[in-house]
Amino acid sequence: MCFIVLFLVHIHQCVVNDVSNFFFLRFLSSQIIFYEDRNFQGRSYECDTDCPDMHPHFSRCNSIKVESGCWVLYEKPNFTGYQYVLTRGEYPDYQRWMGYNDTIRSCRTFSYTSEGPYRICIYERPNFQGQMMEFSDDCESVQEHFRSREIYSCNVTDGYWTLYEHPNYRGRQYFMRPGEYRKFSDWGATCAATGSFRRITEF
Ligand SMILES: *[C@@H]1O[C@H](CO)[C@@H](O)[C@H](O)[C@H]1NC(C)=O
Ligand SMILES: *[C@@H]1O[C@H](CO)[C@@H](O)[C@H](O)[C@H]1NC(C)=O
Ligand SMILES: *[C@@H]1O[C@H](CO)[C@@H](O)[C@H](O)[C@H]1NC(C)=O
Repeated sequence: MCFIVLFLVHIHQCVVNDVSNFFFLRFLSSQIIFYEDRNFQGRSYECDTDCPDMHPHFSRCNSIKVESGCWVLYEKPNFTGYQYVLTRGEYPDYQRWMGYNDTIRSCRTFSYTSEGPYRICIYERPNFQGQMMEFSDDCESVQEHFRSREIYSCNVTDGYWTLYEHPNYRGRQYFMRPGEYRKFSDWGATCAATGSFRRITEF
């Protein structure tokens, strides 16, 4: 089976010039390269899987290339602290991923193969109580669309999403995969204030 897959990959590599755009290969792999310095300089570390402690590999990170997959980087080990959601692309300095500084201590990767659907239900109170609103598209201002700017619980039924502390996709980020979130601490937040959220569409 493995040989067949490798053989198919080989065939496609011969046929498809821009292999990175090829869905099959992207499904198979996630890849990120961390660089110590800005503009992809200094020592680098390539990673293709979840890593609960990056400290043995580097102590600072100032630029990143995401070759494939969706990556969630964490400021602290064991997937805690500030979260940064990165999709395919080049990030020559940490401001590009809205980082607070050059500290990244753990990372997780997620693959997603389909183009949708996306669905998220937000609630005004914990445990799926109070006013509820369902979204299948990006929301740049929670306050404008929801009676409150606080989200206390959340049911993500389809797709991956990022919640942001401030409107227009700014501030602290929270990665959301399908699941039930009974309280804001379930998505790693320290308060319910949420400014905006959007779908993760590039993989
Ligand atoms: C991560 O969590 C594991 C299990 O709870 C623990 O043993 C380990 O010390 C933690 N690692 C760090 C770097 O905090
Ligand atoms: C990174 O920034 C955060 C937020 O300002 C801060 O809590 C943390 O201590 C900083 N880490 C380092 C190593 O500067
Ligand atoms: C969350 O969504 C799933 C899938 O649609 C559904 O089965 C579940 O009952 C929902 N949970 C709540 C609390 O509404």
